[in-house]
Amino acid sequence: MIIVIDGPAGAGKSTTAREIARRTGFDYVDSGAMYRGFTYLYLMHEFDRSRLLKNLADHNLRFEFHVTDARAFHGDSEITDEVRSDKVNDYVSEVAAMAEVREAVCHMLREVSKDRNVVLEGRDLGTVVFPDADFKFFLTADPAARARRRYEELIGKGDTQITLEDVRRNVEKRDHIDSSRNIAPLKKADDAVEIDSTFLTFEEQITRILQYVRNKPEVKNKTNT
Ligand code: DC
Repeated sequence: MIIVIDGPAGAGKSTTAREIARRTGFDYVDSGAMYRGFTYLYLMHEFDRSRLLKNLADHNLRFEFHVTDARAFHGDSEITDEVRSDKVNDYVSEVAAMAEVREAVCHMLREVSKDRNVVLEGRDLGTVVFPDADFKFFLTADPAARARRRYEELIGKGDTQITLEDVRRNVEKRDHIDSSRNIAPLKKADDAVEIDSTFLTFEEQITRILQYVRNKPEVKNKTNT
């Protein structure tokens, strides 16, 4: 069974998808980590786009997903932390806009999800990668709420320099890049269930998703419920 959760940056897709995985025993698949893996290669290739694309078939990247555990490897080296570095953050939108990279990631996502129960998070999973997913959710929250959550997370991690205004600008910039790119822009699938978490607690949000998954299999064929 395939459950996809798409939505804008900071909507809480990753904590939500992991919690759904934890409660269902499905494997959590982080599609962003794959784009980040290719961005890691882009940095290794000294930002040479043609070298990256030439070596695409031979990328040597590998991802392991087991319940809530998502790990990335390049050859024998684990790069789970490296793909979350600031440097990768700075370039991942650029790499995620390359058609050839999107095609490679799309293929890897389909392979990794074959004959398996998975909950995946991303931007274009319900529209492009898994148009026939069993369940599609589009998780949103208003930009101010997303900025505040992200700000609190950064403060919690000990970042004392950042301001709420910086975070708000960054959220708006990522929204713009993700939804205005030509290929596979961030977009709700017509048959996805939209969940606006602005005024929901985390538990309410999880309960709502699990209600669909457990009780409403027919939701698959509904439009805009
Ligand atoms: O979710 P994340 O921050 O790890 O995603 C990293 C980047 O990859 C972000 O710029 C959006 C892009 N992405 C995408 O274009 N399509 C996906 N299915 C997942 C992520």
